[in-house]
Amino acid sequence: MRSPAVRLAVIAGDGIGPDVTTEALKVLDAVRPLLNSGISVEHLPYGAEHYLSTGVSISPGEMSRLGSEFDVILVGALGDPRVPGNEHARDILLGMRFKLDLYVNERPARLFDDRLTPLKGKSASDIDLVIFRENTEGLYAGIGGIFKQGTPDEIAIAEEVNTRRGVERIIRYAFEWGRSHAKTRVTMADKANAIPAHGLWRRAFEEIGEEYPEINRDTRYIDAMAMDLIRTPESFQVIVTGNLFGDILSDLASTLVGGLGIAPSANRNPGRVEMFEPVHGSAPPLAGKDRANPMAAILSLGMLLETVGEQDAASAVESAVRSAIAAGAVTADLGGSLGTRAVGDAIADRVRRSAK
Ligand code: NAD
Ligand code: IPM
Ligand code: MN
Repeated sequence: MRSPAVRLAVIAGDGIGPDVTTEALKVLDAVRPLLNSGISVEHLPYGAEHYLSTGVSISPGEMSRLGSEFDVILVGALGDPRVPGNEHARDILLGMRFKLDLYVNERPARLFDDRLTPLKGKSASDIDLVIFRENTEGLYAGIGGIFKQGTPDEIAIAEEVNTRRGVERIIRYAFEWGRSHAKTRVTMADKANAIPAHGLWRRAFEEIGEEYPEINRDTRYIDAMAMDLIRTPESFQVIVTGNLFGDILSDLASTLVGGLGIAPSANRNPGRVEMFEPVHGSAPPLAGKDRANPMAAILSLGMLLETVGEQDAASAVESAVRSAIAAGAVTADLGGSLGTRAVGDAIADRVRRSAK
């Protein structure tokens, strides 16, 4: 007998969000024969259009419903030039991360095909890392504001929040993940040389790391870390860092493996609803033009499937993406000539064949 259905909420969002989400759902349909349990899909309208027409980005009730009535959420992207302050995206995207307490932002960067890296002489065995970005505090906490705006005396303040609990739990998650994936090194990036508050990260990293004697502890300052990611990507396996540094490093890391078009992510707090989304944004110039690479969204679906216990389906999705890349069935950002929909078809066809 099949287990009860997994309840999936889909927020396609803005710009290329709907383009890439449509392809991810196409792949979900193709993989259904491999699923052990059903997956029910509910589409939610949150995004710029909904905000501009109703005046509400997402209500508190709707946010708490996301946390209580769904098991997983798939997001496309949020951000629209008609909302220049980006307030709806902060309410919806950062709202989910903060209010649903999804403290782990897992952003893997694995090189699927040697042709996709811009780095000379590096191959798939050199670039296989995962970034664990703290996702609920740091400079994103929203503490601060603007005083005397628009005057010569304007003051703009943003406080960086680092709590012992928040820092500890993301560091522990990174070590636990490293242990369960037989990794031998965890690297932490901070700016403790200039920002004394980051001493908390250093102390917590050393203390927690001692509980994992089989894993080497490596600490770097974020500036040198950005350089070393490019010079020696092979020295990184697991990276743990704060919210803003993780945001920046994850775009950089994506470029080592083919770019934002192929970078998936998970926003987690085990046991709660978890949210999956491409690392990329809404890329307004590409929206609706059949040009966006849907692979980041499709690989995010793969991470979702693995999380809900659908390993066979998750593997089928990843293999299909690898096979499409090997065959050159890719969009322009990866050097190909196919459109968004044709790449989605190429992956869905491969998944369907493996599901037979
Ligand atoms: P972006 O990620 O949208 O685009 C950056 C660059 O990558 C652009 O050159 C774009 O064309 C390219 N790109 C991104 N995704 C691609 C894809 N799937 N296929 C091919 N090329 C792709 O970042 P941006 O331009 O800085 O921001 C645009 C909007 O997206 C802003 O409103 C921003 O706030 C928002 N944003 C949202 C998220 C999110 O929803 N998680 C993430 C980042 C940015
Ligand atoms: C991301 C994005 C978001 C972030 C923005 C859109 C608020 O860049 O998901 O990486 O900074 O976290
Ligand atoms: Mn980002």
